[in-house]
Amino acid sequence: MILNTLDKIASSVGVHRDTMKKYAKYLPVFGHKSKRQSYITTDKLLDFITKRVKEEGVKKSLPLYSIKDAIEICGEELFASTNLYEKKTQKAITVAFNNLKGGVAKTTTVANLGAVLASLNQKVLLVDMDMQNQLSTYFDNSTGIDLADDDDTRTIEELEKTFAEYSDEDIDSICSMVATEKFAKKSLLNVIEDFKDTNEVNLDLVDEIIHTADVGNGYTVDILPSEWKLGRGFEDIKGLMNVAILLRKILARAREKYDFILIDTSPANIFAIQLSFFASDYITLVSTPDQKAFQSFFNVLKEFDITKKVASEININIRLDSLILSRTKRTKSQVFWSSLYEYTRKKRNLNLYTMPEKAILSDTDTKNIALIAHNIDKEGAFDTIDGLIAYAIDLINRGE
Ligand SMILES: Nc1ncnc2c1ncn2[C@@H]1O[C@H](COP(=O)(O)OP(=O)(O)OP(=O)(O)O)[C@@H](O)[C@H]1O
Ligand SMILES: [Mg+2]
Repeated sequence: MILNTLDKIASSVGVHRDTMKKYAKYLPVFGHKSKRQSYITTDKLLDFITKRVKEEGVKKSLPLYSIKDAIEICGEELFASTNLYEKKTQKAITVAFNNLKGGVAKTTTVANLGAVLASLNQKVLLVDMDMQNQLSTYFDNSTGIDLADDDDTRTIEELEKTFAEYSDEDIDSICSMVATEKFAKKSLLNVIEDFKDTNEVNLDLVDEIIHTADVGNGYTVDILPSEWKLGRGFEDIKGLMNVAILLRKILARAREKYDFILIDTSPANIFAIQLSFFASDYITLVSTPDQKAFQSFFNVLKEFDITKKVASEININIRLDSLILSRTKRTKSQVFWSSLYEYTRKKRNLNLYTMPEKAILSDTDTKNIALIAHNIDKEGAFDTIDGLIAYAIDLINRGE
């Protein structure tokens, strides 16, 4: 359930709205930093903190059974001095998101789950293993170049004329401007090329290429970016010894620094998928309710079985974790596909989270804004990521 006004949140917590306003900054209530003073949260997020407050009560031998109890009995002191969001395990949790099929919302999931985790005070690294590098610039407003956007006041005829008048030199310079990539020579490719020459992973180089992206409301994620030539880079190292654990080595220092490492993979690139499997604790599949995506989901499961066996021989334990069923709609064919997924995911012990098909994502895609910090249609945004919020809470609460 979405609570989208201060009054609704205050009433759900059981306190006066002025008290709620004061405590919003300690709780997973978003939008309170915006000028318009908007407030939004969900019952799942409040339940998450309620559980943490109860645990504090047990530790402190105090009767804390709700957020209200914590406010009334302990006041700000408890909220200011306790990290109610602390992840249960000490070590970093690495999750790879896969499907051999393209366009099933892998990148959307990784970017938005990362933003949700960051907004819940987790230190997050997103790794872009896809040469398409969509994740690398997902939260970036400065990289798009469009010489005629929809706000352009010229008519189509005028625009065609303008382009017809450009000289070859003009077009050449436009081409090179458009082709310039923000993370060219500052991406995973640098590390891979250096590895090809030295047969070692330079962890300082890894630190140098990581950049920080703003995900709204004052929160950030770090990103290990990719570039188009990464595809060629992968081809060049495929035959090298022990190359399967290359990404695992690349992430060695990151595992000491971050709470969560989320890896976005490339569709139809078995090599990149295998590197991500070997680097992860958990494998999550992202799929859509249609035949091709289901076939591909099935094949990734087989690929996982092969990798798990090889990995266990070198003492690496990888586990299947969840299925994100994305772009779901309430249609008759959905009933068919959902039941096939439901059967398979139960058999394979996968948790299930869904992300419904929502028009808001086409907007967000162009505006590069994390759904958790969406300012226009907040309710629609929270509706879309409700499943990812549940997954984020599950990951934070996960024991050894
Ligand atoms: N729940 C959704 N509702 C509507 N559109 C969505 C949803 N999820 C993703 N999309 C859209 O689907 C398209 C593909 O999503 P995305 O890029 O995340 O998929 P992908 O699996 O990473 O693709 P690729 O395999 O090319 O890397 C994007 O335009 C995205 O905005
Ligand atoms: Mg993608």
